Amino acid sequence: MQTLTITRPDDWHLHLRDAAMLAFVTGFSARQFGRALVMPNLSPPITTVEQALDYRHRILAALPPNCEFNPYLSLYLTENTPPQEIESAAQSPFILGFKLYPAGATTHSEAGVHSLKTIYPLLEYMESHDLVLQVHGEVTDGNIDIFDREKVFIERELHPIHERFPNLRMVLEHITTSEGVDFVHRSPANIAGTITPQHLLYNRNALLAGGIRPHYYCLPVLKRETHRQALIQAATSGNPKFFLGTDSAPHTRKSKESACGCAGCFSSPLAIELYAEVFEQANALDKLENFSSRHGADFYRLPYNSGTVTLEPAAWTVPDCYIGPDGIEIVPLRSGETIRWRLRNGYISSSSSFSKSSNSSSRGGSPS
Ligand code: DOR
Ligand code: ZN
Repeated sequence: MQTLTITRPDDWHLHLRDAAMLAFVTGFSARQFGRALVMPNLSPPITTVEQALDYRHRILAALPPNCEFNPYLSLYLTENTPPQEIESAAQSPFILGFKLYPAGATTHSEAGVHSLKTIYPLLEYMESHDLVLQVHGEVTDGNIDIFDREKVFIERELHPIHERFPNLRMVLEHITTSEGVDFVHRSPANIAGTITPQHLLYNRNALLAGGIRPHYYCLPVLKRETHRQALIQAATSGNPKFFLGTDSAPHTRKSKESACGCAGCFSSPLAIELYAEVFEQANALDKLENFSSRHGADFYRLPYNSGTVTLEPAAWTVPDCYIGPDGIEIVPLRSGETIRWRLRNGYISSSSSFSKSSNSSSRGGSPS
């Protein structure tokens, strides 16, 4: 099997956090991706252009030397977002839109939106300013089964929004269901969807069968196999409405392995390799480059990255844990298991990783 060289990819949905965590995780993304759309659900959230530009400077300061990585930001939409903030965002080259978190839907969503109707005037304003709404598409109604929350959100909220604001550009983030795929597929070109590696590779058995595996817990939660198959079909179809967004979301081991564990899968140390595995298994490696490096850039009206990355079929074992400063330990997706593809010449982080299986700890947490 030959190596695979593609235009440097982008991650259109990424969580980097702040402070020590930011300093630790940013290099994992920068070694493979040219750009990322960084999510604003910090505590407190990034709600203004000024805060976003400050955060962007902190991200740039966290980059390893000689890294070309361009972070873009999404602003956290609230019921109190002033229209002037929408105008300022539309003028900033580094802000690509607003993130809609239904209040209570996920990590740090408390400041999100309780009733979508209350933000209709803001959506109208966003539509007229051609800004993108990045949507966490789940209802938060406690009576709705957690596995149905995306489907119900599409019926109850997304269809009405799309009918009312037909020109509003929207990305349904981290699609997890066949209903999500259908919604994006049937909509016009101003509607797109991102897909994560975990939703392409795993169904809910990975989370629940034979024991609870908290490192496979994310939101929207993993669904049943039929949905996973619909996502694979969408991602590998060549349809430009679907593109890469990892939703890599670092949480410490302690906060995941808890009686009430946090939602989020940390995939950035091996993201492009995981996608390559999906595309290879679907016999669609020739579609990986468009999904990873072109469709998102086209949607966001940005040029393609100029460099390339090369993947080689050289199996390696994913560390059980990545260990950073200040006692940070993060268990990655696929921890302790093998992965078939390996990124060549990626930036080598100075992090350390720990592998229980080999009973050794090593410098250089990223594969070399
Ligand atoms: O699993 C998730 N983790 N889903 C989200 O929507 C947020 C993310 C996080 O910030 O940890
Ligand atoms: Zn996310």
